[in-house]
Amino acid sequence: MAAYKVPVIPGDGIGPEVIREGKKVLEAVGEVDGFDLKWIDYPFGADHYLSTGELISEDSLKELKKYKVVYLGALGDPRVEPGVLELGILLKFRFYMDEYVNLRPVKLYEGVKTPLADKGPKDIDFIVVRENTEDFYVGIGSRVKAAKSKQTLDLIRETYHLRFDVDLQSDAGEVAYQIGVITRQGAKRVFKYAFDYAKNHGRKKVTAVDKANVLTHMYSMWREVFQEVAKGYSGISTDMAFVDATSMWFVKNPEWFEVVVMPNLFGDILSDLGAMIQGGLGIAPGGNINPDGTSMFEPIHGSAPKYKGKNVADPIATILAGGLLLEQLGLRSSAEKVEGAVQAVLKTGKVRTQDLGGKSSTSQMGDAIAKRVREL
Ligand code: IPM
Ligand code: MN
Repeated sequence: MAAYKVPVIPGDGIGPEVIREGKKVLEAVGEVDGFDLKWIDYPFGADHYLSTGELISEDSLKELKKYKVVYLGALGDPRVEPGVLELGILLKFRFYMDEYVNLRPVKLYEGVKTPLADKGPKDIDFIVVRENTEDFYVGIGSRVKAAKSKQTLDLIRETYHLRFDVDLQSDAGEVAYQIGVITRQGAKRVFKYAFDYAKNHGRKKVTAVDKANVLTHMYSMWREVFQEVAKGYSGISTDMAFVDATSMWFVKNPEWFEVVVMPNLFGDILSDLGAMIQGGLGIAPGGNINPDGTSMFEPIHGSAPKYKGKNVADPIATILAGGLLLEQLGLRSSAEKVEGAVQAVLKTGKVRTQDLGGKSSTSQMGDAIAKRVREL
């Protein structure tokens, strides 16, 4: 029997509860399809950090890099300053593994309510391909206070293109800046992924999103590369859209979209909007993908500390992320079983967690989906 070793980082808050259900469903699929999953648990998260001072070590990252896929719950804890765990573990991981695609399917399943009036499952079914390593996430920036000399001052003025008179000699004149970086290679690989994804999943259109009308340097290149890559894919139509208009169309005409490629920051923001129109963060999965390396799968939602240990969180986002994980392992029909089971349970509507307007628990939802997998 085929066996797959999968490192798991349950993490903080509701992370361990939703991961428990995710494992349950994937194990059920394994039973039905004849493969074995060997979970390898890693403790990273708030407790580990608070007791050891370690976020995630270089050694662990090196070790994790040997695997094709990693399953992650959620990170973030009220005892730790915001950002420490998110940046120190989650972003660290994505960057270390060079997971340049953040795949976020936006799909409204039957039986789930969308806040969009007059829109249904036929209208809301697209994939956000968020670039995951560049743009405003590169961490280049600074806060510049009180320049020491005229020379430094002039240098700062020139470098930062200050357009107004700022007194950099005093704290009142402090300047903070953070810049975005896009590389031709970085844009090319994410566009290629998006077009290949479209090709392999029967999608006929790829839309590139940007703000090329204002951030002209970065996004003119972004557009150029998009058009170049598109030439290699006949039969797939293309479109380019500004991010502000896209946010409007996600609400007004979601049926226009099939595969939508976004730079990192815009993708971060609009994929939350996407999660809302598909019925909430409780059912929105994500994959951080390096097609040639280690990929990590997680729900888009955070650790929701107020629901921790209450067995009320919706595990569907994590379960669907598990489906994406199986697909990455090359088990596409098994991945489809995960989605099929989720779809069936949502459609029947008997088991619903509180985010879906019901009273079922996290484990009841996991049980129902796992049971359904065995019946498919
Ligand atoms: C996400 C999150 C992360 C991001 C944070 C927690 C670093 O918002 O996965 O969308 O900005 O990418
Ligand atoms: Mn986000």
